[in-house]
Amino acid sequence: MYISEVFDAQKQTMHSFLHAMSRRIILLSLLFLVLSEHRRISTVHAASSVHIVYMGERQHHDPMVVSNSHLDMLASVLGSKEAASESLIYSYRHGFSGFAAKLTESHAQTIAEFPGVVHVTPNRFHKPHTTRSWDFLGLDLHSQTNLLSGSNMGDGVIIGVVDTGIWPESESFNDKGLGPVPSRWKGVCQSGQRFNSTNCNRKLIGARWYIKGLQAELGKDLNITGVDYLSPRDGEGHGTHTSAIAAGSLVENVSYKGLGIGTARGGAPKARLAMYKVCWSTTLSNFCSTSADILKAFDDAIHDGVDVLSLSLGPSPLSLYFDVDERNGIAVGAFHAVAKGITVVCAAGNDGSVAQTVSNTSPWVITVAASSIDRAFPTVITLGNNRTITGQGMFTGNKEIGFVGLVYPLDAGEVVLTTASAASLLSADDITIAGKVALFFGSSPILEYAVKDAGGVGIIFARNPSIPVSPCSELPCIEVDREIGMQLLYYIRSSRSPLVKLSPSKTLVGKPLSTKVAFFSSRGPSAIAPAILKPDVAAPGVNILSAVPYNSSYGGYRFLRGTSMACPHVSGIVALLKSIHPQWSPAAIKSALVTTASTSDESGGPIFADGYPRKVADPFDYGGGIVNPNRAAYPGLIYDMGMEDYLHYLCSMGYTNSAISRLTQNSTVCPIDPPSILNLNLPSITVPNLNTSITILRTVTNVGPVNSVYNASIEPPPTIHATVQPHILIFNSTAKKLSFTVTLSSTRKVIGGYYFGSLTWSDGVHTVRSPISVKPEIIPSYVDNS
Ligand SMILES: *[C@@H]1O[C@H](CO)[C@@H](O)[C@H](O)[C@H]1NC(C)=O
Ligand SMILES: *[C@@H]1O[C@H](CO)[C@@H](O)[C@H](O)[C@H]1NC(C)=O
Ligand SMILES: *[C@@H]1O[C@H](CO)[C@@H](O)[C@H](O)[C@H]1NC(C)=O
Ligand SMILES: *[C@@H]1O[C@H](CO)[C@@H](O)[C@H](O)[C@H]1NC(C)=O
Ligand SMILES: *[C@@H]1O[C@H](CO)[C@@H](O)[C@H](O)[C@H]1NC(C)=O
Ligand SMILES: *[C@@H]1O[C@H](CO)[C@@H](O)[C@H](O)[C@H]1NC(C)=O
Ligand SMILES: *[C@@H]1O[C@H](CO)[C@@H](O)[C@H](O)[C@H]1NC(C)=O
Ligand SMILES: *[C@@H]1O[C@H](CO)[C@@H](O)[C@H](O)[C@H]1NC(C)=O
Ligand SMILES: *[C@@H]1O[C@H](CO)[C@@H](O)[C@H](O)[C@H]1NC(C)=O
Repeated sequence: MYISEVFDAQKQTMHSFLHAMSRRIILLSLLFLVLSEHRRISTVHAASSVHIVYMGERQHHDPMVVSNSHLDMLASVLGSKEAASESLIYSYRHGFSGFAAKLTESHAQTIAEFPGVVHVTPNRFHKPHTTRSWDFLGLDLHSQTNLLSGSNMGDGVIIGVVDTGIWPESESFNDKGLGPVPSRWKGVCQSGQRFNSTNCNRKLIGARWYIKGLQAELGKDLNITGVDYLSPRDGEGHGTHTSAIAAGSLVENVSYKGLGIGTARGGAPKARLAMYKVCWSTTLSNFCSTSADILKAFDDAIHDGVDVLSLSLGPSPLSLYFDVDERNGIAVGAFHAVAKGITVVCAAGNDGSVAQTVSNTSPWVITVAASSIDRAFPTVITLGNNRTITGQGMFTGNKEIGFVGLVYPLDAGEVVLTTASAASLLSADDITIAGKVALFFGSSPILEYAVKDAGGVGIIFARNPSIPVSPCSELPCIEVDREIGMQLLYYIRSSRSPLVKLSPSKTLVGKPLSTKVAFFSSRGPSAIAPAILKPDVAAPGVNILSAVPYNSSYGGYRFLRGTSMACPHVSGIVALLKSIHPQWSPAAIKSALVTTASTSDESGGPIFADGYPRKVADPFDYGGGIVNPNRAAYPGLIYDMGMEDYLHYLCSMGYTNSAISRLTQNSTVCPIDPPSILNLNLPSITVPNLNTSITILRTVTNVGPVNSVYNASIEPPPTIHATVQPHILIFNSTAKKLSFTVTLSSTRKVIGGYYFGSLTWSDGVHTVRSPISVKPEIIPSYVDNS
């Protein structure tokens, strides 16, 4: 189950964390979650003409014999060898046996009855999400008018990726049609194990690796033999995946075992890549190197001439290190990069849906949450009394089950079971599960195995519906929410022989279904600096198909999910923006992304955030919203900032002059009365402790038509009174930068959580929206009177 994967990931993190702590080093995690490929296949469903015929272990060693047997089988159904060759798309003959072919529904059914065929799955799996996510974001490859074409696909912009290395042979890094390496590039292609200068080309223009810091800390425990390469080569897959999302070249006919055939591409297909390998797979665990190595990577990247840095990794949320603690290499390195005009994009982390879990929280980086591309798997459950209920299914068979008996084996609510206790419970004398469907509250893979071992034929899990559906691996299972679970239980208790019928799941993909913030995506507010809104924006991070090191069992592309996958989406978009606005500062680029992000779906409905409970997304889930690249290209107004603003922020945060001067190599003197953090010129307004009333200052720069008139409209957070002064901003050739104030006052004297609203400037063409988050705090007079 999904949830256990997350728990496993957390356990892993915890283990690594404790290990790291015992050595007093900082652990950085790669921010992704791996899904079992087996399950991914089983989610494929519905009625397209391409079908996957899966035949299990191959029966013969000679691949030619295996694929000829596929052709023979097809020919016997389709009537001729010619028709068979025409229909066959892929023959799987190495890791397992089977094929993908274009079939009608009735041909598919015929083939399903053949001996040796395990199952036939209609392949209506959406396009690869690298394709799908970019189309979804409005960057259609064939449009002449979008940001992608306007920026010539990011040609010449250089994206540095700080990650696990790269697999240079991947087709996604081919340099066909690319011009020469930009002359300003000063990077190198550092050689090492199975990697030398010939592995770089006009796409992968640089690659370096950093292990000395980790070596120093781990000593003899650092053993990468057999699991990684002492070079920029990727032993893990993560860095290859993220690099290809950001800037992969166009690769036609990409698929995962034949699923989702389409053109894979990165966000900026003509941008150039440079890999800075700082994360290592060791025989013990995965480690991203500590500040020493990370800082060196930043240092080199700044020297080499990257324009964008993409970091799908971050400190563990368990670490209490401060934002610009010198041990936090990312915040410090990013500060220097931003000072040089390099935009730094970071993943928010995968510790949602709990609040205050967001990492990479410094105001100079762009922190990216993960959104899903929505899918639903409606599945019909029919009870013996003919009542039908729709659940979320994982039932990928093609024949319905039932009517069979329906049992409720456990009287307890949610219990954590061991394999042994599950088995003994299910084998109790008074329960017969064989041939029946079992109902449980909660869910656990242990139960799947136990029910299967006891001869059960299906499972209904009644549980929190906000956790994404993932298919059971052992037998058909269906999810319903607890309320429906209670109705089923009532039915079981009230009938002498309760019966149920389960029908195969349908798959609904894409529009009109909207995106949601993924439940694993880390949430704000920032525990370190609650007045700095984090995350900044959300981007697709669920089921993203992208390049990985070639593996003979599944090829060179895999689905992964995590904020690790969301981050390079934004890095690619930033490359496109840099290409059309080379003069924009990192703050301007962030402002453009935040103020133009989408907060509603295509049909105007709200975007939801999965979690406990599922709710309408707020700024702590997705910052400004889901990133909208075409609008970000022409934001109208931007909230700009420079290094002085960040220094004032550090002063306000209480950093001493000597701490700041270590950071800046400059004898900064904080003003006696540093400006309020609330006045940092962010494209968002976040007030963590509103006491009666506060006035906040902002300055906007016009980057649209010179003579423009903008009107303010404010949607005040509930219980908050909000005004904007002035209400109209008139820009002309001399008035390019204008300031305004926002006054927020609490109308109720209560302690509470955050309330959310927005401020929007509009000239009738551009819409410049800033999220507002306010937490009113108790005021003394209220305490006195109570
Ligand atoms: C780089 O590696 C390739 C393949 O291993 C080898 O053929 C080539 O000679 C090497 N080139 C250099 C410059 O070392
Ligand atoms: C490193 O790990 C490999 C594979 O697990 C093992 O064979 C080797 O002995 C290890 N080396 C050291 C120095 O521990
Ligand atoms: C991709 O696959 C389709 C269908 O199998 C085929 O028609 C097409 O020629 C292929 N394109 C390339 C570039 O291989
Ligand atoms: C359920 O529906 C079927 C067919 O519509 C009917 O034959 C059967 O009697 C119904 N059963 C009950 C319990 O209503
Ligand atoms: C391919 O991946 C599988 C599963 O991750 C792994 O067990 C296997 O060793 C890999 N094969 C190659 C050739 O890398
Ligand atoms: C140090 O700060 C001063 C004043 O802000 C500035 O003019 C100067 O360029 C800075 N020097 C460096 C090396 O950053
Ligand atoms: C809130 O504001 C009032 C009036 O300005 C002041 O007396 C009080 O100390 C403030 N409370 C807090 C918690 O800052
Ligand atoms: C621009 O606007 C300002 C204030 O609204 C005004 O004082 C100034 O004269 C205007 N400049 C031009 C060139 O129109
Ligand atoms: C802005 O406000 C003015 C006066 O309130 C109104 O005339 C004008 O149409 C508004 N413009 C836009 C773009 O909303």
